[in-house]
This record gives sequence, C-alpha cells and structure tokens, in this order.
Amino acid sequence: MAIKGRDRGQPTKRSCILKLAIHGGEPVRQTKIYYGRQYIDQADCDAVNAVMLGDLITTGPRVKELEGRLCALCDVNYASAVANGTAALHAACYAAGIGPGDEVITTPMTFAASANCVLYCGGTPVFADIDPTTYNISPAAIREKITSRTKAIIAVDFTGQAADLAPIRKLCDEYGLVLIEDAAHSIGTKYNGIPVGSVADITTLSFHPVKTITGGEGGAVLTNSHTYYRRVDLFRTHCITRDVDDMHNKTEGSWYMEQLDLGYNYRLTDFQAALIVSQLDKLDRFAKRRKEIVRRYDEAFATVPGIILQKEIPQSDTVRHLYIIQLDPAVLNCTRRAFFDAMTAENVVPMVHYIPVYYHPYYQRLGYTKGLCPYAEALYENIMSIPLYYSLTDKDVDDTILAVKKVAAHYKKQMVE
Ligand SMILES: Cc1ncc(COP(=O)(O)O)c(C=O)c1O
Repeated sequence: MAIKGRDRGQPTKRSCILKLAIHGGEPVRQTKIYYGRQYIDQADCDAVNAVMLGDLITTGPRVKELEGRLCALCDVNYASAVANGTAALHAACYAAGIGPGDEVITTPMTFAASANCVLYCGGTPVFADIDPTTYNISPAAIREKITSRTKAIIAVDFTGQAADLAPIRKLCDEYGLVLIEDAAHSIGTKYNGIPVGSVADITTLSFHPVKTITGGEGGAVLTNSHTYYRRVDLFRTHCITRDVDDMHNKTEGSWYMEQLDLGYNYRLTDFQAALIVSQLDKLDRFAKRRKEIVRRYDEAFATVPGIILQKEIPQSDTVRHLYIIQLDPAVLNCTRRAFFDAMTAENVVPMVHYIPVYYHPYYQRLGYTKGLCPYAEALYENIMSIPLYYSLTDKDVDDTILAVKKVAAHYKKQMVE
C-alpha cells in the first residue's frame, strides 16, 4: 500500500519549511495583508482639500461633476450621487414604487443591504438560489419564485462579475418587473460589451473603501428613466422640492419649499464627490491591476487540489472586486474555519463573503428558515476571499499564492491506492 500526498514519516527539510504557522512554523510573510484596501494618492488628497477650503462642502459642483462622469462611464442618462450604496438601494426601491405587499426577488449570496432595502420600503425580500459555479443569482431559480405579487428583481453582480442579465431582463419583460442591478462590486465591468449601469432599469453603486473606487463612503443611482431619476433626486433630500412646477402652493416667495413625500437625507458631500472623481481618473489602472492579479491567481490555483475557482461567464468582462476560493471537502481534510485560521496565521488574512442574508437572526425572526437556497448555503460553508486590491505588490500576490498552496497541501487528504 503506497501513501501519496503529505509525507507522514520523519520530518524532512521540506516538511519543516512547510510547517503551518498556526502549528508553530514560519509564516509566509511577517506583516498582515487583508482581503481589501483602498488606494489613496496625493491627487486624491489635493482634490479633497480644494473643496474643504471652498464655500460649499455639502452637495455642490463636485457632486454634479461626479454625476456627469458616472453618466459618461456607464453610458447612462441620469446619475444621482447619494451617501452610500445602501442609500442607493433604498432610493432605487423607492423609485421603483416598492411598498407593502410587494415581493422583490434577490440573492442570499450578498451583503444584507441588497435585501434590507426592500424591507425599508415595506416590501418582502424573496430569495432565489445561485448558480453553484458562477455564484450569481440563477435566472431559472428566479422564475420559480415569481408570483403575482413580485414587483422587482434585484440582481447583484457578486464579486464584480455581472449577473446573467439577458435572461433576467427577459423575465422582467415577460412579467412586467423592474430590474434593479446592485453593482456595488462591479463598477467598470461590462455585460455583452455594455457597461454596468445601462443594462438594468436602475443600477446602484457603492464607494465603500474596499470597493474598486472609494469616497470613504458614497453611492450612486443610475437610470435611463427620467421618472425614476426625479423620484431618486427628491428622495435623497427629504422629498423636499424647491421647484415651483412640483408645488401645490405656487404663490409663495423664493424662500418657500414643499415636502411632497417621506424622504431622507441621503446627500453626498462635495469633498467625497471630489475624492470619487479623482479615483475615477485611476479606474483604468485599478481595473488593469485587478485583472492582472485575478489572472495570476487563476493560473496559480488551477492545479491546486482542493481549491475550486469561481466560473466566469463569457458575457461578463469583469473588473473583479473580490477573489473567492472555494474549498473542496472531498479533497481537503479540514473545516473552512481551520483553513481560514491557518491562512490568518500565515499573515494572509481572508474574509468570508457572504453569510447568506437569511441566516442573520433578524431575518430568522421575520420567519425565513435555513434550507431556502441550498446552493448558496453549501457555497457559504466552503468559501473565503483572499487579498485583491490595486496596491497589492507582486510579492504580496506571491505570498498569497504560497499561503493558499501551503495550507491546501497540509490539509490534502491522503490518497490510498
Ligand atoms: C453587494 C452590496 N450591496 C450593497 C452594499 C452596500 O453599500 P454601502 O456599504 O456603500 O452602503 C454593499 C457593501 O458592502 C455590497 O457589498
């Protein structure tokens, strides 16, 4: 009987080198790196400073400039900058007219905001399962969840890869549903050659620091519909209008304004807008580097037993926000927790994206139960995100590859012939 795989005999020089840091071995690097990080340069700081010394620090000319830049980048008629990606989703649901009794279908494999926005409007999130290879919401699973109460679909471009928007668009047209695309991860991505932002009825962006482009916080709502644009524009500033055409009382003075509906203060500051505009100047560089790193990881992990990679659909030209490795329990003899902790000890600190939304105690209290979306649940058990951001050096990338290979080799099941 021959034992293949990890040497179980006397420690050799090689097995000493590869002793896991969590077991007292040498970590692959001395300083920690994490799954995501912003990149801020002097041009960004100068852009922010220029606003700080001016007259307007809340919504002003830089917000307008940002909106123009987003329209051009995403090939869309209207962009409204808002305080963050969650506010963008809330505004999108408001614009789409989501209310009590309405169902909105979304994926559980996302940040909670993609479903919370439906609850904010009094609607009901309905979770449709993912495709187990691309990790994005499955059009076939969506179809199964459509009822007479369904009003919209929120498709999330998970990790930056565009959701399979053509069949989802078809479903929306067939059933008269609004298509909202949560593009928090996917600025710069194209679907069938069309930039994310102009495919769905309404698209939302996030400028949180781990995203490809950051404003510290920030978000935007993109649409080609003037009606949706007007609703978002009012919603982000309390639904208060200064436009006489919209007012009930048209005879008051220039000080007069009217609140037409219940809105919020979801405005973006001008200094955040200046930062985002300055970051957009670097988007091509950011995208190129992210793609390079993804290519290196894909090549390095293609032949590592126990590591399964996310499948890319040919329709998506992806600027990846997250790089996920999926552990294969048939090959690796460890829990995700053990792998995660071992990576952390190697000083390559992963993260898990995401806990299925309906696992959260709040959603359980609302009556959602485990078992709703088996593919998403199975994926959650085995995934982690490894470092992917613009300023990762080649050495950081090498260290990350080494750490994954080292931990995977350690936990590889023995093959008995
Ligand atoms: C898919 C997705 N949607 C929405 C959001 C919310 O964005 P923000 O953090 O800007 O509110 C996030 C943020 O992490 C996200 O990952």
